Amino acid sequence: MATPPLLEVTDLSIAFGEHQAVHSLSLSIAPGETLGLVGESGSGKSATSLALLRLLPPTARLTGSIRFDGIDLFNLPESAMRRHRGRNIAMIFQEPMTALNPVMRVGAQVGEALQAHHPELSRKAVRSRVIDAMNEVALPNAEQRLTDYPHQFSGGQRQRLLIAMAIINRPRLLIADEPTTALDVTVQAQVLALLKDLRKTHNLAMLFISHDLAVVAQACDQPTDKVAVMQHGRIVEQALTQDLFLQPQHPYTRRLLASVPTMQTDRTVPLATLR
Ligand SMILES: Nc1ncnc2c1ncn2[C@@H]1O[C@H](COP(=O)(O)OP(=O)(O)OP(=O)(O)O)[C@@H](O)[C@H]1O
Ligand SMILES: [Mg+2]
Repeated sequence: MATPPLLEVTDLSIAFGEHQAVHSLSLSIAPGETLGLVGESGSGKSATSLALLRLLPPTARLTGSIRFDGIDLFNLPESAMRRHRGRNIAMIFQEPMTALNPVMRVGAQVGEALQAHHPELSRKAVRSRVIDAMNEVALPNAEQRLTDYPHQFSGGQRQRLLIAMAIINRPRLLIADEPTTALDVTVQAQVLALLKDLRKTHNLAMLFISHDLAVVAQACDQPTDKVAVMQHGRIVEQALTQDLFLQPQHPYTRRLLASVPTMQTDRTVPLATLR
């Protein structure tokens, strides 16, 4: 029998005023599995991820259903939702500098993410969990760097700090919205490798969002991982990663694939554009 999904989204629609940003979107993620969500700018990827955490502005109109571990997140009181947010479901964003507080020492910031859900922990216990989390994301000299500020870290290290904040509460689902887009290619590969390690160690389920199909393919490389392709607020195709690459069904997926460079790509010919 198939494992029951950890996250199950059914017929999610999101409108901002007259603008229908997401149309009847359905997806599910099993424990430990990664689902890639790929699509061009404005296709509704971030709106979808924010809806999962109920972080959209009150002007957004939502219909459909979102279930996490069998719980209906749509109809949960805000106080109960707050207990899930950052604890069972964590999120990392595209731009590490804007997600970190520039005037707060990093040790305190990572610690705050833990204390938000564990106010009972002593300062000493928090400090030790923060150091563990920083070590886990391979930030060198964690103990010495607790009192540094975000600007004293490189872009890749700042993304590692955000990942440390995201995993410190041992979430079951991680929503990663363009987690590597702001990074250069080498650092991007390192952060992807880190996310894949964490996923294995903690049996973490992941919604991995990117406009870049090549990056999504790397993040969703396990046999049961799937990729969903979004265009204009709809999922136009959803398949196991390997099937999507071997037999893309939708013309938009084919166009996305054609724009992924391979070893065979003729680098003298411009890549296909997506619009
Ligand atoms: N808070 C908001 N108020 C009004 N419209 C919004 C809001 N957030 C998103 N939208 C609109 O919803 C649509 C989807 O936006 P979304 O941010 O989800 O796109 P995306 O796929 O994440 O794009 P990108 O790859 O650029 O991050 C866009 O047309 C956007 O203008
Ligand atoms: Mg986005």
